[in-house]
Amino acid sequence: MTIHFDENKRQFHLFNESISYVMELYRGTYLLQTYFGERIQAFTQSLPYPLKDRSSFSPNPKDWPDRGFSLDSALQEIPGYDTGDYRESICAFTFCDGTKAVGFSYLEHTIFQGKKALDGLPATYVEDDEEAETLEITMIDAKRQLKAVLSYTIFAKRSVITKSIRYQNMGNQVLYINKALSSCLDLPDANFDLLQLPGAWANEKQLKRDRLSMGVHVLDSKRGASSVMQQPFMALMRPEANEHSGEVYGFHFVYSGNFKMATEFSFFEQTRVLIGINDHNFSWKLGANEIFQTPEVVCVYSNKGLNSLSSTFHKLYRERLARGFHKYQERPILINNWESTYFDFTEEKLLAFTQKAQKLGVELFVLDDGWFEGRNSDTTSLGDWIVDKKKLPGGLKQLAKKIQAEGLKFGLWFEPEMISENSQLFEQHPDWHLHVTDYPSSIGRNQYVLDFSRSEVREEIYRQVTQILDNVPIDYIKWDMNRNMTEVASVLRETDQQMETSHRYILGLYEFLEKLTNRYPTILFENCSGGGGRFDPGMVYYMPQSWVSDNTDAVERLKIQYGNSLIFPSVMTCAHLSAVPNHQVGRITPLDTRAAVAMSANFGLMIDLEKESSVDIDKIAEYLQWYKKNRQLLQFGDFYRLLSPFESNHASWVFVNEEKSKAILFFFEILANANKPFIKVKLKGLQESAVYQIQEQTYTGDELMKFGLYLNEELFGDFQSKIIEINRIDSF
Ligand code: DGJ
Repeated sequence: MTIHFDENKRQFHLFNESISYVMELYRGTYLLQTYFGERIQAFTQSLPYPLKDRSSFSPNPKDWPDRGFSLDSALQEIPGYDTGDYRESICAFTFCDGTKAVGFSYLEHTIFQGKKALDGLPATYVEDDEEAETLEITMIDAKRQLKAVLSYTIFAKRSVITKSIRYQNMGNQVLYINKALSSCLDLPDANFDLLQLPGAWANEKQLKRDRLSMGVHVLDSKRGASSVMQQPFMALMRPEANEHSGEVYGFHFVYSGNFKMATEFSFFEQTRVLIGINDHNFSWKLGANEIFQTPEVVCVYSNKGLNSLSSTFHKLYRERLARGFHKYQERPILINNWESTYFDFTEEKLLAFTQKAQKLGVELFVLDDGWFEGRNSDTTSLGDWIVDKKKLPGGLKQLAKKIQAEGLKFGLWFEPEMISENSQLFEQHPDWHLHVTDYPSSIGRNQYVLDFSRSEVREEIYRQVTQILDNVPIDYIKWDMNRNMTEVASVLRETDQQMETSHRYILGLYEFLEKLTNRYPTILFENCSGGGGRFDPGMVYYMPQSWVSDNTDAVERLKIQYGNSLIFPSVMTCAHLSAVPNHQVGRITPLDTRAAVAMSANFGLMIDLEKESSVDIDKIAEYLQWYKKNRQLLQFGDFYRLLSPFESNHASWVFVNEEKSKAILFFFEILANANKPFIKVKLKGLQESAVYQIQEQTYTGDELMKFGLYLNEELFGDFQSKIIEINRIDSF
């Protein structure tokens, strides 16, 4: 891997064995995007592309000798604003004279081994400088005294480029940033499908693929969180690309707040991809010498289809985004009491519950919402993190110790960013939530969002949470967040800085999480936001696993987990076996299938053991044993999607270990049909020349991958599944 700068051509070439990213300084000034894709030896053609005379209505930069160059169609890395490029901009500023024109020219660059951390922001990292190389290009608008340092990192062994920008006000006058996106990538053609992961509460990550069409297309969140409605991810796929072949570009934004991902397909059939913090309700005052750091964008390229793109994301996030003690640890099988008790429990009831769970083989008990004073419904008490002695007379410490004495770990639910109107905290601090003074506040799940942009608010919540964590032996925290922001304002902030609030909130949250996770390095943190409402790469940096959805229905989960697998590895993806009829959709699904779906990820239980039949309890105990035996593979193995529930009545995936000596295949048939078609699945990831055994039968690796296995013949009834273990053997 290297980053090469060709002095003559003024060309940057970032490459490793699989990818190349090429940029050129056109006439020494403009930073043009030249090529991003499969590794090439060198780019020798001259830029810009022939422009003919079509730029007639598109202005040319002043002092340009001919009319052959216009910023309006140049493929750029940092297009300006109001200076001749009429496409969507990467940035916008209001300068002290009230005007906005800005354009950047090359000043200098540096290349160094390794990768710098981003101040106050989550980002991918290296453990050894040899793993990556970074290029920083400084672009400047000298008249505006504004600098933009564009940072590019290429990893030696991954098909990944990460990008971010640092803006610095070099003048002595204040300026306002109205938009500061992190990355612009101009691709030279527009022959793409756009793949995205939109959704809703309990219906997250519903994969959609459409033809990219002319004009601007925006995927975004204005909710103050990355949100259930849209993942900060998109992919551009060649129309012929599929799971296992073809070109795909994937982009993921390492940020947990408002974001914007825009594609612009221009008349000249070029595609601009813009990614960054949403400019909706955003502005930032940048004083003399101040810096604004944008979050990171992860750009992945694959010429082997979507699955290989996913595999690059999975490995990067497992190895160089997640951090801490639990990063490579097998995750415990937990049981959570939420769907069994909701707010209605006592210590006695919980202990009876955990005794049964322990006998079953469960390793961690998670006490969900409702353990703090007065919290008998969702209308009250958020902000007062004091144990409810009516439900738990001996307190949390006693409960934790009793549960741990039984051999289970103890976990606790918190929702630290929220406040109920009916709480002591609200009585004492009626202005600590995000709101506009003298303007009605919207309510969401009967609660307000605490103003985490304010340090005194964070400090009080930190004090309350750490008081519990210092005194109660807690092994795990479920960090929840159950509403989105509205009336986004912070009472003490100056008028001209009110629109900084949502970003300052996220920076405050990150600061809080950094402090908390460092103070309790062995606690396992699970990220939750009413399900997957903030399951994004930003949160992965602090919490190595996330609750994917409040929808625990196995059939609905097939799609949710399939969509989720595009970017997140199974170890980060929490899935629970839950009761029937299912609480979200009322469906009755066989136990085997409920277990198979949940065991396809980071497995847990959300069932009331009292209500299950003894036959089912025995079966669940067997699943737990089986999962423990196979969890290294199921949590950390290579994952291949084989059949999509978005496209058919079936779903299938397989996990394969690094040595290719063991694989576990999952197959699901959703609805039953009489006289149904034969379904054959071709496996992936095995060793072609090896011999594998499935039960008593042996197969060659290439046979399993090229011909496949018939899977649905004997399945009868709706919502059926199969789990097939495949072991490599020495020979036939
Ligand atoms: C939403 C979460 O997603 C649920 O699992 C549960 O913890 C509830 N909040 C509790 O209020």
